[in-house]
Amino acid sequence: MDEPDAASCGLSGLQQLTAVIPAAKPARDVAAIFNSAVAAWAIAAAWELGALDELSSMRLLDAEAFAARHGLDPTATIGMFRALAAVAVVERHGAIVIPAANFDEVYRCKSYFHWLSRGSAELFRQMPSALVSKNGQELVHQRDGAAIAFACREIDRICYAGAFWDAMERLAPAFGTVVDLGCGSGARIRDILTACPGTRGIGIDIAGPALEVARADAAAAGLADRTAFIEADVLHLAPRPEFAQVGLITCFMMGHDFWPREQCVRVLRRLRALFPAAQRLLLGDATRTAEIPDTELPVFTVGFELGHALMGISIPSISDWEGAFDEAGWRLIRTNRIDLTVGEVLFELG
Ligand SMILES: C[S@@+](CC[C@H](N)C(=O)[O-])C[C@H]1O[C@@H](n2cnc3c(N)ncnc32)[C@H](O)[C@@H]1O
Repeated sequence: MDEPDAASCGLSGLQQLTAVIPAAKPARDVAAIFNSAVAAWAIAAAWELGALDELSSMRLLDAEAFAARHGLDPTATIGMFRALAAVAVVERHGAIVIPAANFDEVYRCKSYFHWLSRGSAELFRQMPSALVSKNGQELVHQRDGAAIAFACREIDRICYAGAFWDAMERLAPAFGTVVDLGCGSGARIRDILTACPGTRGIGIDIAGPALEVARADAAAAGLADRTAFIEADVLHLAPRPEFAQVGLITCFMMGHDFWPREQCVRVLRRLRALFPAAQRLLLGDATRTAEIPDTELPVFTVGFELGHALMGISIPSISDWEGAFDEAGWRLIRTNRIDLTVGEVLFELG
């Protein structure tokens, strides 16, 4: 059977022409989508290699000299900056690179790009199979734990740090030992121990590579004898004698892994039993927000929400959390709404 052609569909001559020649704007827009996808990798790489920091402070960088200093291939390095220039993050004059219109905002949001392209690449690469019901759960631990921890250090700085240190000031100083659940590369433990002399810290994480970074960084900061980093699943934590001294529990950017509700209540209850001396639980995380129109999504939201949906993790709302604490044996002292991009919140519980 013949395929219907434009003429047989009743299109005029002009309509037939525009049906075969793509309009200039969609072509540019589609190129921008492609170039943005490549640039997301380039942003993460340029940050990790120190190029974004150098550009932020010096406002000019010689790509060839940068490549030589860091042992990089000069052609590929120019290519990386070209990808950034394609989306107006930098302007490029040969090998000379300067910040362009989008630089400062990209620099502020660099950790979100890193989370996506370095930390979560495998998850998004496997989207077709992750979309098949239940398959995504197997991909949770195929993300790059060390890369996610690297990005989270910065996400914490721009998002949670202010509310966290305000909550720390409201605490009794004598908490003795702090345990950080889902500690990643251990930055929170290091920061607390540095700010609170005489305290000890225990970091717990399921990702071995992140803990290796945590141990090395703690040693470099002279905190090796005050810290312990344990590889374990927080959802199925076994008791240990040192848990008896824990006066403060912190848990940032992993609380959504406690859910669904029944499991969350069980895990929170168990924390009470495992850490009987804990006076405070500071729980900071993203929460499910009201629907944002698809065309007005800010940076990070669609990646975070789709990524978790692919892993079969449903993000609880603030009221889901608030409705679970009582039953789990925790008193909600204060809800601090941060709400930067993904409904971030810090609960103070006692
Ligand atoms: C998004 S990162 C946050 C890291 C750190 N809390 C921070 O504030 O920067 C989440 C961390 O939780 C860890 N994690 C996820 N599920 C876990 C589980 N069931 N038990 C222990 N750690 C877990 C991950 O390995 C990862 O290091």
